Amino acid sequence: MVKIKTNINGIEYAKEVEDNQLLVDFLREELGLTGTHVGCDTSQCGACVVHIDGNSVKSCTTLASQVNGRELTTIEGLAKDGNLHPIQKSFQNNHALQCGFCTPGLVMSSVDLLDKNHNPSEEEIREWFEGHICRCTGYKNIIKAVQEAIA
Ligand code: FES
Ligand code: FES
Repeated sequence: MVKIKTNINGIEYAKEVEDNQLLVDFLREELGLTGTHVGCDTSQCGACVVHIDGNSVKSCTTLASQVNGRELTTIEGLAKDGNLHPIQKSFQNNHALQCGFCTPGLVMSSVDLLDKNHNPSEEEIREWFEGHICRCTGYKNIIKAVQEAIA
């Protein structure tokens, strides 16, 4: 077991975790943060993306013990005072989801992209989403949602 201290969505946690516990399992099973999804468990689909110190990371291939001393944001931490984050709003406005399974990861990745590049081209957005799979939408409206958020 490993002792960790971490701040998640503005809340401090001190926990003991198994050495081999995956971050996504820690978030979902220990903390009940089930907005982070598991689609593949093999680092392909991007449904499990969270932010660690502001960078998007796949939590299915990160150990819980690796977040000791780090600051995390999950999809539950994006809305503030009952108001959706502008990127969540633009996903909603543009029907950028159908079943919604991939959506938390895509939203977290989009926030990271626009933090790092305020005006990405369509090609840059598509490249950024290389590590994501959406089986429903065909990606068109997801790209539109990011473009609306840029505007
Ligand atoms: S569950 Fe992590 S990339 Fe698919
Ligand atoms: S909306 Fe269903 S997988 Fe993307």
